[in-house]
Amino acid sequence: MPASAVDEYFQFLRFPSISTDPERAADVTACAAWLGEKLTAIGLHTEVHATARHPIVIARNDHQAGRLTVMIYGHYDVQPVDPVELWTSPPFEPRVENGVVFARGATDNKGQIFAHILGIEEALREGELPVNLILLIEGEEEIGSANLATFLSSHREELRCDLVAISDTGMVAPGVPTLTYGLRGIAALEVRVTGSAMDLHSGIYGGAVANPATAIARLIACLHHSDGRVAVPGFYDGIPVLAQWEREAWAALPFGDAEMAAVTGAPELVGEPGFTSLERTWARPTIEVNGIGGGFQGTGTKTVIPREAFAKLTCRLVPGQQPHDVVEKVKAHLSSHTPRGVRVEFLGGHGAEPYYTDPHSKFGQAAQKALQEAFPGRPLALIREGGSIPIVNTFKEVLGVETLLLGLALPDCRAHAPDENFPLENFHAGIRLNRALLAALAAAK
Ligand code: BES
Ligand code: ZN
Repeated sequence: MPASAVDEYFQFLRFPSISTDPERAADVTACAAWLGEKLTAIGLHTEVHATARHPIVIARNDHQAGRLTVMIYGHYDVQPVDPVELWTSPPFEPRVENGVVFARGATDNKGQIFAHILGIEEALREGELPVNLILLIEGEEEIGSANLATFLSSHREELRCDLVAISDTGMVAPGVPTLTYGLRGIAALEVRVTGSAMDLHSGIYGGAVANPATAIARLIACLHHSDGRVAVPGFYDGIPVLAQWEREAWAALPFGDAEMAAVTGAPELVGEPGFTSLERTWARPTIEVNGIGGGFQGTGTKTVIPREAFAKLTCRLVPGQQPHDVVEKVKAHLSSHTPRGVRVEFLGGHGAEPYYTDPHSKFGQAAQKALQEAFPGRPLALIREGGSIPIVNTFKEVLGVETLLLGLALPDCRAHAPDENFPLENFHAGIRLNRALLAALAAAK
């Protein structure tokens, strides 16, 4: 690999392409344009499509009749950097320490998708790709892929393919080739509680009116039983019992409760009774509070009754659950627990269904072979994961194809958190993986 490859990866990382932040919209667009130029430079036919929000980058080689068509999907948008003060170095100034790259997006997903791009570049330099390739890289994955779903429907003919491959998931441990066959879905919901018409002096009015911050705390508390189970009626309806073979296979993986405790730094692991942490995160649904606010947040004290308070929630969903249905159940539960003296309103968010596919299908086996080649000498892990990639079900519905999830992220990659990082070793393995994958898929056709 030329030395410039890492330089280019760093250029990619320097764009603050935070999709959720309207003030970063120009940076997101600039990142898409840079990517488009890179893909053109390696010899692909590239289009950068504007959407109602962030651009979609598409690139393809010269397609030939009779060959397999593979779509490789990734995203160039990243999560916000807050709390920025907890980063060891600025999030958009990539730095290498002991062979590990630190930057927002280093793993999720710029490092992983750029490794694929470099694999393709290497292959094109040597000659032809063994497959018809469609590279689709979007800028809204971290906010639910709403415009990509619309784009897929309106461009389904041009995007027709035999399968999709994604590197945007994890490896169970360093060096362990990992194929993911299940992802949790997601349903986001913001809860707003309002009370008095304006902020009030807490001495003059305290005792006579309800406090929205207290109300939001009560509402959040009513979501779970004290043992960790979700208390929303019907929340667990329709979820199949976890298969014994999965429980046994996951128990044998080189990542379990001890590693989860170490990687999170949490004083104790807690969750739904009767399940290990892998089962809780991969195969059981949850409700998490992603943010809570209201009232005085500054230094010192301020004696105030805030007029409003909010909580941002996401539910992670497993097969058997539907985002819309779960959101309705959560709303009904919160409405029936709303304390007197305040009003509650809900703002809808993105939603995505859970995903489950067969890792032993013809293409699944080819992916296993490619992973073994990229990470030689270690037994392959077949896993589900707790994160979500909203578009995978849309690929299935609109294009009629399954997705292979070949992850390169390590458990301590700190995705979505300060000091996100990606080892250069995994970056190089990703390049090998791309080469091996396209060859194995072509052979499996
Ligand atoms: N790469 C992640 C998804 C992921 C992470 C899958 C780890 C499996 C293991 C992706 O970029 C992501 O973070 N997705 C969001 C989607 C959401 C904002 C709609 C997520 O899961 O929170
Ligand atoms: Zn992410």
